[in-house]
Amino acid sequence: MKPPQRQPAPPGTLTAITQRLTGVRRRSIGFPGATDLDFDDLLPLHRELINNVGDPHSEGRWRGQTKDVERDVVATFAALFGGSARRSWGYVTAGGSTEGVLHGMWLGTERFPGARVYFSAAAHYCVAKAARFLRTDTSRVAVDDGGEMLYDDLAAAVHAHRDRPALVVATAGTTMTEAVDDIASIHEVLDELGVTERHIVVDGALAGPALALDGTAAARLLGEHGGRGRADADAVCFSSHKSFATPHVSGVALTRRDHVQDLTRTVDYLAGTDTTISGSRSGHAAVELWHVLDTVGTDGLRLRSRRARDVAEHTVARLTAAGWPAWRHPHAWTVVLREPPAALATRWSLATSAGWSHIVCAPGVTTTLIDTFVTELVSTTRHEDAHSA
Ligand SMILES: Cc1ncc(COP(=O)(O)O)c(C=O)c1O
Repeated sequence: MKPPQRQPAPPGTLTAITQRLTGVRRRSIGFPGATDLDFDDLLPLHRELINNVGDPHSEGRWRGQTKDVERDVVATFAALFGGSARRSWGYVTAGGSTEGVLHGMWLGTERFPGARVYFSAAAHYCVAKAARFLRTDTSRVAVDDGGEMLYDDLAAAVHAHRDRPALVVATAGTTMTEAVDDIASIHEVLDELGVTERHIVVDGALAGPALALDGTAAARLLGEHGGRGRADADAVCFSSHKSFATPHVSGVALTRRDHVQDLTRTVDYLAGTDTTISGSRSGHAAVELWHVLDTVGTDGLRLRSRRARDVAEHTVARLTAAGWPAWRHPHAWTVVLREPPAALATRWSLATSAGWSHIVCAPGVTTTLIDTFVTELVSTTRHEDAHSA
């Protein structure tokens, strides 16, 4: 006997919206967004307005907030990126890395008015947008085939403006290939050209936390400024929903405490200080991240990230065995593959660019799901080949 088919709910109802989104989640391989963690324990909080307005470190007058939880979350992530509780500062952003990047760059323009912004051709479009908001001049730096910044090209761009402060936005996990720019090489370029006034923002939207959990150079970004071979940054951010499966969009923006002093303003209406991009900020977002840290812990997060890489490796193997070009960086959850037929790319929400596409094996993507995709890919291309023969 066949199992009973679930009836689609009438359009425009809450049930229909829920069914649609559940369906999307089941096929979520094209855009970064983990789906493996459970947040049901937090459902009662959705009866409450939680607004962490203002700086997380100033309590302010409004009591319906979760700033104590937010400070814990910020301290944990600051430590993960090598910062100390005393010297680091951060907040849970109302948006994702777009807001974190803008905040990091804003700090840079406050520190060094007239700074020129450098970022790679593989950087997310939010970097160019933030530069427009801040009305800064920009230079776009070329990348290698894997998507990493070309440091010779950075040197040529900076050389032409070496009398000006440099605001470099590096990426730890580019959108299409999850390439990682090397901060030590960026410092080396600036050192060689004598550019001492520098501000480096690391956009770690997807890969930042995983790289830091692995103890790579990302785990020292907020450490002490070094001499030769230094690889420190001034600000780093990531999106919560990309790697931590939070049901609401948010992120974390981190920096050095000294840097934030320049843009701090006292607001008497709040009885507190204003240091963030958004005024009202979701206090639910801070609780969601705290819940992840509390229930999964950093060891659990590390393990989960390794499993995601195993799924990515499986994906490359399955695609390659099927004769479909695919590759990944060893650290990456992202698999780059030749662009699939348009109908399939739409059905699986695969982003495409210049003939290539990607699958992001964020936690929640299983090998079974990947196998289903590869089977569909093979049968669609066979079908198309048969029709074109
Ligand atoms: C490298 C990078 N930076 C920034 C962003 C923007 O993140 P959000 O959409 O969370 O603001 C993305 C989104 O995919 C990204 O891949």
